Amino acid sequence: MAASRLVVLVSGSGTNLQALLDAIDAHPGGAEGFGAEVVAVGADRENIAGLERAEKAGIPTFVCPVKAYGSREEWDAALTEATDAYAPDLVVSAGFMKIVGKNFIDRFGGRFINTHPALLPAFPGAHGVRDALAYGAKVTGCTVHFVDSGVDTGPIIAQGVVEVLDGEDEAALHERIKEVERQLLVDVVGRLARHGYRIEGRKVTIQ
Ligand code: GRF
Repeated sequence: MAASRLVVLVSGSGTNLQALLDAIDAHPGGAEGFGAEVVAVGADRENIAGLERAEKAGIPTFVCPVKAYGSREEWDAALTEATDAYAPDLVVSAGFMKIVGKNFIDRFGGRFINTHPALLPAFPGAHGVRDALAYGAKVTGCTVHFVDSGVDTGPIIAQGVVEVLDGEDEAALHERIKEVERQLLVDVVGRLARHGYRIEGRKVTIQ
């Protein structure tokens, strides 16, 4: 079976993207064996390590900054078209720090996944690590989920647990979460691509 086509969206350092690229590279069966290949990387800003990683790997990139468009809707339409141009089977938001709009969800709903650095439904939004620390949570972690029209509210695919250590700051905790998150994302993407999946209401089953 041909490898699933992935478009990965990034906004920052792109270590989750790198983990996917490395896992595909390291698989004895290559992209076909892993089940997926990254066909393009999109971003909402220039000059980020995530884009450099893609370029270094010879993967096409595209950039859609919100401020380059007259409205949020126009931006969303442009992002949708730029992504669709690569005919993805799955779209992966890996540290993409923008909420996409209706157009994007209508086009890619049910095949658009996100990774979030907290155990949803706790601590959604842009500061999941900070919010868990501030709340005094003793365990937190990461969640890979399908994206719906809410903020971090879509059906959960898999989660990884990380204990919060006494006195730990946000950066240190986020780094430990990301170690778990990268493995979880690689595992989930590979399994979704190789086995297929069903979404029934909030329940996701990998076949
Ligand atoms: C991840 O923890 C992701 O969940 C969060 O931002 C981080 C992205 O890291 N939203 P990277 O760019 O993949 O290194």
